Amino acid sequence: MFLAVSIVAITAAVLLFTIIIRRLSKSEVPGSPLGKLSKWHYECIVASGQMAQHALSSSKRYPGAIQQIQPTSYSLTHPRDIRQMLGSPRATKSPYYEILKFTSTNSLLSTTDAQRAGQMRRVFNPYFSGAYLARMEPLILTQGVEKLMRKWDKAIENEAGEVNFCDSFNLTTFSIISHLVFGQEIDEGDDEMQTVLWMADATSYISLRAVLQLLPRGLFALVQKLPGEKKHYVRMRRYVERAVEHRRTQGEKKADLLQALVDCMQPPLSLSSDDVLAEGFLLLIGVSGPIGR
Ligand code: HEM
Repeated sequence: MFLAVSIVAITAAVLLFTIIIRRLSKSEVPGSPLGKLSKWHYECIVASGQMAQHALSSSKRYPGAIQQIQPTSYSLTHPRDIRQMLGSPRATKSPYYEILKFTSTNSLLSTTDAQRAGQMRRVFNPYFSGAYLARMEPLILTQGVEKLMRKWDKAIENEAGEVNFCDSFNLTTFSIISHLVFGQEIDEGDDEMQTVLWMADATSYISLRAVLQLLPRGLFALVQKLPGEKKHYVRMRRYVERAVEHRRTQGEKKADLLQALVDCMQPPLSLSSDDVLAEGFLLLIGVSGPIGR
């Protein structure tokens, strides 16, 4: 009995050792040995919110333009390489990005379809250019700095007034982007604090939902059941849906990204209303995700 157990244990150890050596020797790209062995190493880093710290420390440990982060995933570090990759019709995103599918359809951020991503980037690019921003500078000033100064002056005049820098800057950023992208106010009649709250809660819900998709299915189902959190997500979605609907039905055309997306509902792209919703939602969460934190 003891001999049989020993033989099985030694065989298992040899097999494991062989798998580890083969995986490590197959890769010539530098990177963490644990990451090369199992996809779970990097997924635990993402789920624990340590991506930024990990990126900083591993770029020191493995300096260079490319790093292996999972058995089949690589991370590029130079902006030139990232641009070249994003521009290539052969480069597709990993299915991992599915966790960033915010609505029922994939957006530019989550799609693994390189052709669709290329088409959408061509639609988006003019609105992320210096020339467009220069043209929009007056709007950015009136919806940003000037509005903020007026609000703060009023709070200072009223001696009991209090200025919350964090909420003020968040709200100002949402306001600028909603004017630039959707051509309308973000508040929709709410008071400002309400807006800050629902944007922040919807963003937390989406982040939590994304991270839980990396974990066993039971946990993901749990977050779907959080009624309070989901309510804010639905509210954010409705904001985009209404903006799209309003633009489609009103006669006037505007020179913003929403208009560009609505125009894509015609051939040759023929986007569906779900596709437009997915891209619009990405643009709204694009602001509140990184900036809200
Ligand atoms: C401090 C501000 C921001 C940071 C740090 C940031 C960060 C990022 C990162 C890291 C990605 C790449 C995700 C990936 O493919 O792995 C990304 C993609 C994207 N972001 Fe942002 N973002 C910011 C602001 C914004 C804003 C204001 C918008 C739009 C209104 C926006 C729209 C997008 C879009 C459309 C993509 C997808 C690009 C593509 O796949 O080609 N972002 N962002």
